[in-house]
Amino acid sequence: MAPPSSSDHPAAAAVEAAGAISKVLIVIAMQTEALPLVNKFQLVEAPTDESVFPKGAPWTRFHGNYKGLHIDLVWPGKDPVLGVDSVGTVSAALVTYASIQLLKPDLIINAGTAGGFKAKGAGIGDVFLATDVAFHDRRIPIPVFDSYGIGARKTFATPNIVKELSLKVGKLSTGDSLDMSPHDESAILSNDATIKDMEGAAVAYVADMFSTPAIFVKAVTDIVDGEKPTAEEFLQNLIAVTMALDVAVTKVVDFISGKCISEL
Ligand code: ADE
Repeated sequence: MAPPSSSDHPAAAAVEAAGAISKVLIVIAMQTEALPLVNKFQLVEAPTDESVFPKGAPWTRFHGNYKGLHIDLVWPGKDPVLGVDSVGTVSAALVTYASIQLLKPDLIINAGTAGGFKAKGAGIGDVFLATDVAFHDRRIPIPVFDSYGIGARKTFATPNIVKELSLKVGKLSTGDSLDMSPHDESAILSNDATIKDMEGAAVAYVADMFSTPAIFVKAVTDIVDGEKPTAEEFLQNLIAVTMALDVAVTKVVDFISGKCISEL
């Protein structure tokens, strides 16, 4: 039997018909993670008064052409009241929804940082491509609603990217907290996750809804099953690990250039 490939994914059909990938949407939660890629791809910020996004939304879009691809990089922006990055599932789902509707990407790359489990082989600075995503903080102990809450799904398979770029692979578990409660911990274990973030499963939910292939590139800033307090370790490693993330995302985009979806 032939091994499963990216062309087996239902989201592949529409893009496949069109040939080479032309529009890539990068969804990134934090400004610190986004700006090096904006510079690398020489993207320009879309002026607020010409924004494709609805008035009032803090979402920010950078765009440009890079190696034959049109790249839109969207960032949910700063919380209008508190002035911090709008991290988490709500903002990620909203900006992904609006971006799919308005920008019609062929492929989504959700890039960001994540906590990693050393017991599952993650180390600081490792970059993972997530094979699966699920939520760990949506507990609904009623038959079938329980599975809906967990929202486990396979991501768009990219065996050639994994092979070519020697990225690590693992399952990603998403929740709206940086730290990990005992409830979260048992759900993450049951999701069999190697990495933990605050956006991935939400982006995947929206991408699947609109049959848009999505891949998840996550770099490890902190070891969740280690000794150090998560917030401290995250902040300590954020800048250095963001560099590793940006190198990996650039390699992924370079690989995508000129290819069609079934070649990923
Ligand atoms: N992003 C970086 N580290 C994280 C963690 N430990 N949990 C959730 N998101 C993260």
